Amino acid sequence: MERADTQAIDFDDLLERCRAELERGAERHVGLQLVCDLLHREVPHYDWFGFYLAVPEERVLVLGPYQGEPTDHVRIPYGRGICGQAAERRDTFLVDDVAAQDNYLSCSIHVRSEIVVPVFEGDEVVAEIDIDSHRTAAFTDADRRFLEQLASLVVPHLPDLGETRGTMSGKENA
Ligand code: SME
Repeated sequence: MERADTQAIDFDDLLERCRAELERGAERHVGLQLVCDLLHREVPHYDWFGFYLAVPEERVLVLGPYQGEPTDHVRIPYGRGICGQAAERRDTFLVDDVAAQDNYLSCSIHVRSEIVVPVFEGDEVVAEIDIDSHRTAAFTDADRRFLEQLASLVVPHLPDLGETRGTMSGKENA
């Protein structure tokens, strides 16, 4: 096991820094990208950090801002992969070893573990936070608590899919 030492990470401080980034980027609608950049840079076991935006009426997730290697998975139907399963379960999905998962969409051969946290607006899943790690079993309850708090913070900053579909893709928005 290579579980990350999350005790060494000050998640309360990170949450406040995310809040500041969201406010800083609000005017230009880049708050989510700033959060991706911050957490990818500051948390050693967050090797890919991104948002998927939900289109509930089509039961599909569309790739939003992210930081890390480009991914082929720009549209994920509900039920497919870890992201699609989390959208259906409407709950955080933590996978310690992606190699043991049948229903998994590979983003990179280096990925060992993954966490997906739904973002709710009222009862509806409106987005997801998706993180890949190159370490097996990298994510702990501390990550989960932090990310579930972050999920509530980002709701007012989610872009309207109409204005972003097909245009929001990682580094070009950094
Ligand atoms: N691994 C995800 C797909 C998204 S990439 O990791 C960015 C999944 O199985 O849903």
